[in-house]
Amino acid sequence: MTTASRSSSFASRARATCAALVVVCASVAPGARGSRGVRGDGVTSAFERPPAAAVLALGIDARAAHERALLDDDGDDGDVPSQVHLTPTGIGEITVTWATRARVARDATVSYERVDDDDRGTNGSKKATVTSDSYTTQICFGSGTLFAPRMGQTPSVDPMKVVELANTSAWAATDAVNYRVVRAIEDVIPTGFFASAPYDKGVCLDYNNPDAQYHSPLIHKATLRNLIGGSRVAYTLPGSATSRTFTVPTVPTRHSSHHQSWTSTRIAVVGDTGQTEVTKEVLTHVAETLSDAQVLIHTGDLAYADGFAPRWDSFGRLMEFLTSKIPMLSVVGNHDVSVNGLESTAYTMRYPSPSVSSKSPSQLFWSYEFGHAHVIGLNSYANPNVGLFDGADTPQMSWLLDDLASINREYTPWIIAVFHVPWYNSNRGHFKEAERARIALEQVLYDAGVDVVLNGHVHAYERFKPVFNYAEDACGPVHIVVGDGGNYEGPYGEGWIEPQPGFSAFREGSFGAGSLLIHNDTHATWEWRRTTCVANTTASNSYFERSGDASTCRTIPDVSAQAMEPVDIAILRRDVGACPNKRVGNAERSNEASGYNADGASSHVTTLVITSIVLLALWVVTSIMLIRTLRVLKYSRAYRSPSLLANSDEYDNEFAGDGAIGLHTLSSSIGADKF
Ligand SMILES: [Fe+2]
Repeated sequence: MTTASRSSSFASRARATCAALVVVCASVAPGARGSRGVRGDGVTSAFERPPAAAVLALGIDARAAHERALLDDDGDDGDVPSQVHLTPTGIGEITVTWATRARVARDATVSYERVDDDDRGTNGSKKATVTSDSYTTQICFGSGTLFAPRMGQTPSVDPMKVVELANTSAWAATDAVNYRVVRAIEDVIPTGFFASAPYDKGVCLDYNNPDAQYHSPLIHKATLRNLIGGSRVAYTLPGSATSRTFTVPTVPTRHSSHHQSWTSTRIAVVGDTGQTEVTKEVLTHVAETLSDAQVLIHTGDLAYADGFAPRWDSFGRLMEFLTSKIPMLSVVGNHDVSVNGLESTAYTMRYPSPSVSSKSPSQLFWSYEFGHAHVIGLNSYANPNVGLFDGADTPQMSWLLDDLASINREYTPWIIAVFHVPWYNSNRGHFKEAERARIALEQVLYDAGVDVVLNGHVHAYERFKPVFNYAEDACGPVHIVVGDGGNYEGPYGEGWIEPQPGFSAFREGSFGAGSLLIHNDTHATWEWRRTTCVANTTASNSYFERSGDASTCRTIPDVSAQAMEPVDIAILRRDVGACPNKRVGNAERSNEASGYNADGASSHVTTLVITSIVLLALWVVTSIMLIRTLRVLKYSRAYRSPSLLANSDEYDNEFAGDGAIGLHTLSSSIGADKF
């Protein structure tokens, strides 16, 4: 078959298959993965999504199976670095991750150097070694939304390409065990599959079909070490002719004097991003208006690959323009672990965390300190408190207690906890879904004086007043839901529960990003800005498109009282006078324990100085005690032998009066001395 005739055949078959897929697409409820969405009634009318316009070069379509090339890589070919992103993995340490199809040279390194003016004599190119890995996962389809995006003109998965991947009869021997005739998408995904409970499920291509397996590009990592907080660093990846730059997160004072002066700490926040044109608007907003952010925090649900593994690559390409410049910390969401854990392989392979530097036993929970903040990332899908079978503290809880106890608020007064599923949320979508975790952990975080809790999961924005146990509490954390990153499942704006709870300060079902600007030990400014509204564009209300200007628009059908507000600003105050819990956590932790090692020597020098001082003090004390003891013995003998005292002025001075009590007096004197 010629290419032309094959294309023509594909087109006609695609039309027929899309018609057959209407039932599948139409019956998928918003947020069907783990939740039936905010309506709870599903979508029952015919799917009327307009033809998707591939406005983003995401390259997520699969190729024909018989061409033996699974993916349109769109940038991952050869040895040209792609999907570049930065992760803060320790104090003065950034790990860069990227992908290529081709191997890098065995001795390849990432070169990096400080490029700002104030180099303090440390300028000069350094080399970081490169490690490479890859993984294979079965291609599965974990959401009907893959075929029928509800929003944002993200290219959908072509059902005919799925048919081609699944149809082994095109090449397999007729008597082979993996011979399978597939003519239509219903042969792979039964009609109505995603519309019936359980909703969190997937259907996989046959594992013994070689085209059922996704082979990742090579995932490379290199850790840039001994970086100076606040400095600008340029890094060059193998295979790249140009360098990229980023700013190193500032270092809390206690870690070193080797940091540039800084006065405030900005953190950008996004969540539930996926990869649509709305996502791109949210990310562009961060890049253009929050470019001074030291760290980007992602509240979970990154790629929305939903079992179709190539989407991790297209997500990496979409994010690169931002994450190659601003280091990103992320927590795992349900879309990052779903389809029987399929996604967690991709997530953990591609998105490292500061788990090692924070002494965590798991990559999925960690802490990281920069500027004024001690940020804790937790896994919403780890058992929150005790093991189901042994009743012991879970690894996450055990580590969390240790980590909270290690915080010294003299240096990092602000404690920020990040996890995907919110405890406080006034939307019917995912309402009280994490109640068990709240019961297990809320008191722990409250006692530790956590200041801010950042969540995602609900595809909306909501900020709460300081709260504890469903009541306003001035000493409780401010909970903020940032799940409005623009993924293809659409907005939750119609799901707000009325009346709005008194401790819910602001809620809106549009799309945007947050910014936390910490001014000092006691004050910070939180700001959320809307970047995009969407509106129904079909009679069945099943598809949303961008609508209006972000400063004046309203997402339809957002029914919140603040639906028209483009900005939410709040001043956050740590009242250490009124809140004893905000004063806790002053544990001392040595620089060596923190893992910081600026210029390869700082922590060792500090430790050596402290040790020397202690040893010197001990030597002085011991010497004084020894001298005085010898003198006591001398006078004691003299007391027993008066002739020895004949010419002793010292005796008169030390034991003036009753020589018989001399020893007792000296003992008391030693006990009272402040050595
Ligand atoms: Fe989620």
